[in-house]
Amino acid sequence: MRKGIYPGSFDPFTNGHLDIIVRAASLCDKLYVAAARNGTKEPLFTLGERLEILKECCQGNGSIEVVTFDGLLADFCIKNGISSIIRGLRATADYEYEHAIALMNRRLAPQVETVFLMADAENSFISSTIVKEVARNGGDVSSFVPPAVVSQLKSKFS
Ligand code: COA
Repeated sequence: MRKGIYPGSFDPFTNGHLDIIVRAASLCDKLYVAAARNGTKEPLFTLGERLEILKECCQGNGSIEVVTFDGLLADFCIKNGISSIIRGLRATADYEYEHAIALMNRRLAPQVETVFLMADAENSFISSTIVKEVARNGGDVSSFVPPAVVSQLKSKFS
């Protein structure tokens, strides 16, 4: 069984993330979608809130499991027999950051391959930070995030 993982902070989850999940799911027998902690970011949404949205958006696809983990992604992969880490690439600006993390993860878990999927052109300018900025200032984010996230953002900023 080929197991992959799509990790992220998902603060919040966007249509760009959803696009990567749908495409990644077709490449693996089982895809873990993992809401993880990025030690450099202070999240707006609690882990519980992010997991709830991920579960709602991924329901109906039996090959996807929404999870979270503490510690290193590489250790989670080794423990769960995961052979691929899926990451989305939007623009060249993502490359340097992703390159460093992919090489570190390979050093930590040589048996795990990082696979990059190009973000869809329609979503390639979206980031969680930009979405939060638009929502915080009362803008319409409904074409960038799933409906459940629109409501979550409204209640955070109301
Ligand atoms: N569509 C829309 N946005 C996308 C995207 C796409 N296809 N691909 C990436 N992004 C955006 C995200 O919205 C996010 O935006 P933000 O910076 O404004 O929040 C940004 O790109 C990247 O964030 P994300 O994909 O959520 O990853 P991250 O870099 O915040 O988190 C972890 C990466 C959580 C997977 C990583 O920190 C991790 O593995 N942590 C566990 C500890 C560990 O093992 N660290 C690595 C050791 S080297």
